[in-house]
Amino acid sequence: MDLLIKGGTVVTAQSSFKADVAVKNGKITGIGANLKPEKNTEVVDAKGKLVLPGAIDGHTHLAMPFGGTISTDDYYAGTRSAACGGTTTVFDFVLQGQGEPMLDAIKRRDALAAPDAAVDYAFHIGVGDVTTDEMLDTMEDAMAYGVTSFKVFMVYDFGVDDGQFFKTLVKAKEIGALVGVHAENRDVNNVLIAQYLAEGKTDAWWHYMSKNEAVEGEADVRAINLAKMAGTSLYIVHLANKQGMDAVTEARDQGYPIFAETCPQYLYFTSKVYKDGIPEQNLRARDFVCSPPMKGKESQDALWEGIKRGDISTVATDHCPFTKAEKDWGITQKDGTPGNFTTIPNGCAGIENMYPYILSEANKGRISFNKAVELCATNPSKLFGLDHLKGALQIGLDADIVIYDPKKVFTITNDAMHGDTDHTIWEGAKLKGYPEATYSRGNLVYKDGKFLGKRGDGKFIKCKPIKLKTPQL
Ligand code: URP
Ligand code: ZN
Ligand code: ZN
Ligand code: ZN
Repeated sequence: MDLLIKGGTVVTAQSSFKADVAVKNGKITGIGANLKPEKNTEVVDAKGKLVLPGAIDGHTHLAMPFGGTISTDDYYAGTRSAACGGTTTVFDFVLQGQGEPMLDAIKRRDALAAPDAAVDYAFHIGVGDVTTDEMLDTMEDAMAYGVTSFKVFMVYDFGVDDGQFFKTLVKAKEIGALVGVHAENRDVNNVLIAQYLAEGKTDAWWHYMSKNEAVEGEADVRAINLAKMAGTSLYIVHLANKQGMDAVTEARDQGYPIFAETCPQYLYFTSKVYKDGIPEQNLRARDFVCSPPMKGKESQDALWEGIKRGDISTVATDHCPFTKAEKDWGITQKDGTPGNFTTIPNGCAGIENMYPYILSEANKGRISFNKAVELCATNPSKLFGLDHLKGALQIGLDADIVIYDPKKVFTITNDAMHGDTDHTIWEGAKLKGYPEATYSRGNLVYKDGKFLGKRGDGKFIKCKPIKLKTPQL
């Protein structure tokens, strides 16, 4: 035994109980009362603490080319930041280029990730070209390589049309893959953009208005219908609106394998931030520009209800940070010409905030700690074909473990974060409880505010094929 975490309360998706956790060679080897250390075992006292599985962030964009720049956190900064927030696995998006076979795209990205990642990582494909059967068939090579989930974009110029989306779903059914979708109505979005710009409406509020509740909700409903037609499962990423939430719930109640992810930013902020920002924290409205945008209170309440009912399966971050200077392109573009809400790179930082925020909400009594573990660790591992390795405290699984101090009071500041971004939309948020230590395959990678891991220690994790026939998660 290398490590023995003693006297804590172990939290799984099902239950919480006092137990010691033993680790050897990076795996969990024992969970039980009064486990005895061996001669060279390091013993960690976890009395009064919770012992949790490391979180799996199912949605990150590290070093991603987007909006005329590259997201600020590379694989090192992003995974370092993840580790310090209790996240031990990240699913990053490989954006497939036009005419690029998916396996080539995976290897292109893995060449960046492998030397840099400080915690384990897996990939989803961001589908960039399924315009030919030849390209569509390259999904099979991705599957064979251990990348088993594919995200299509209904919005953005590189996104799919409904026919390509449908073909992707049919192919996924055939090969045991999961299709994720970024659902927003591109055509309506484009019409509204043109209209607002013609009217001289250029600030961040109009980003929200051009991607409002109905623009997202319509696409959610359509995506679910396409999945029903194809007879397969669907994972709606970053769900942020009530109409979509209701459609997910209805489909699940009918027995369809439809799954939804939401993000902490939709659970905490509302569209109000696009009016004023948060002046007392020096956050401007444009700092909050991401897609989909935060929605009104009614949608936020619907998301929380969806979590409590079990109709939201996962929480992930959509971590995609840009600097304040890049956000300023909404005022003046790189070339000096006036900017507008469409010239602001889309995305915000959040990789270090997900688990602490969701656990804090649990600690405040909004959901159970078991629910927090289910949303942030256990369900993503099952949905993405990773539960043979990760996502739970269970003998035989990787020793990805977080020791959580429920008594610690923590105020988020960018200074205390471990990424490379120069601001955080979470500045000033007050949390009840905070991770004290993070172990990645038994190695201490974070303790008391300090990153202790190593660049390059994270490994590429192969996912299994996914066969979800009912809304079981
Ligand atoms: O604003 C966001 N989310 N940027 C990243 C790309 C995406 O759509 O997930
Ligand atoms: Zn997206
Ligand atoms: Zn239901
Ligand atoms: Zn995203």
